[in-house]
Amino acid sequence: MKKTIKDIELAGKKVLVRVDYNVPLDDKQQITNDKRIVATLPTIKYLLEQKAAVILMSHLGRPKGKVVASMSLKPAAARLGEHLNINVKMAPDCIGAETEKMAMELKSGEVLLLENLRYHPEEEKNDEAFAKKLASLGEVFVQDAFGTVHRAHASTAGIVKFLKTAACGFLVEKELKFLGEALDKPKRPFLAILGGSKVSDKIAVIENLLSKVDSLIIGGAMAYTFLKAEGIETGKSLVEADKVDVARDLIKKAQAKHIKLFIPIDHIIVDKVDFETKKIPADAVIKETEGADIPQGFMGVDVGPMTLQRISPVVNEAATIVWNGPLGVFEIEQFSKGTIEIAKLVAQATEKGATSVIGGGDSVSAVKKAGVDKKVTHISTGGGASLEFLEGKELPGIAALPNK
Ligand code: 3PG
Repeated sequence: MKKTIKDIELAGKKVLVRVDYNVPLDDKQQITNDKRIVATLPTIKYLLEQKAAVILMSHLGRPKGKVVASMSLKPAAARLGEHLNINVKMAPDCIGAETEKMAMELKSGEVLLLENLRYHPEEEKNDEAFAKKLASLGEVFVQDAFGTVHRAHASTAGIVKFLKTAACGFLVEKELKFLGEALDKPKRPFLAILGGSKVSDKIAVIENLLSKVDSLIIGGAMAYTFLKAEGIETGKSLVEADKVDVARDLIKKAQAKHIKLFIPIDHIIVDKVDFETKKIPADAVIKETEGADIPQGFMGVDVGPMTLQRISPVVNEAATIVWNGPLGVFEIEQFSKGTIEIAKLVAQATEKGATSVIGGGDSVSAVKKAGVDKKVTHISTGGGASLEFLEGKELPGIAALPNK
């Protein structure tokens, strides 16, 4: 168990908090989704109540070590200020004389946000001297950037060497609790639903989950590689030819472990679609297949009604559900039914007492689109981080923290 902010002395201290304010911005620099900011409020409010001076640091986007004005954290400071109902100060940089002065002068009960850490190439290189400079701004380090804990960067890992008083914040604590409990002591039956476009992205997750789950549903474009491995016709669906053997091997492993594996038994198919613009040409033919085979000239874009009927009781009976990745091209209305239905089924199972954990950006959007985001147990704020957690990998931003 890692130390949390409840375990350390905070009063009168300058507390440096790594948050993940890598939020989406539109072309007018307006934040289009502030979930990641909202998710850090419990930690920040607690630190302020404990009379700490709070210095926040984050990255935004991938500016590749240069100042890119459109990736400034200024909009995040403004939005955080609205939520806290105080003026959140904005530093001109994350290191340097002016920032040091602002940090030094910060009083208990005040909040300062440093400018984008990734304006400096040293951040992603986990540079020691840079980590030391960041550390010099505070006396205590708090890790609350769950979305970034899979990165071994100066502000997530290197810094702990220079700030021995360190702990995780409430967001990281909550994420570790839900993801950790789901994997380590799941109520059974334990079901994992995996979708998304590439088998290659999910091999390690499937491998790890095969030693834990009772059932596994595979959907999304990656299902077509599994179908191919089963000798089923996939038409012109997205198939990773070099991963067919891997898929076959995973199917065998699941069988050997007596895991109930569900791959689609019917599909929604289309003969042409522009995946870039997410548009279906007016003369495109969309239909349902009668079985698992996909005819020549067509590609699978969603699971069909028979598949949904088959997996519905599996979701309904599950006591623990981990879901990562959509079951079809859900950004296109006509191909979103499978994903939306799954989101609703997961919400219903949760109402009946199941624990449901949603990870990964796209499944989170799907849960929102289905209007059930308040009806699942936990929605992770980490895309890559939650995936690496499900892979069973050590997360550098967590590993660096001291135990209780
Ligand atoms: C994310 O959005 O997944 C995190 O903020 C990490 O961002 P990165 O993939 O650019 O490291």
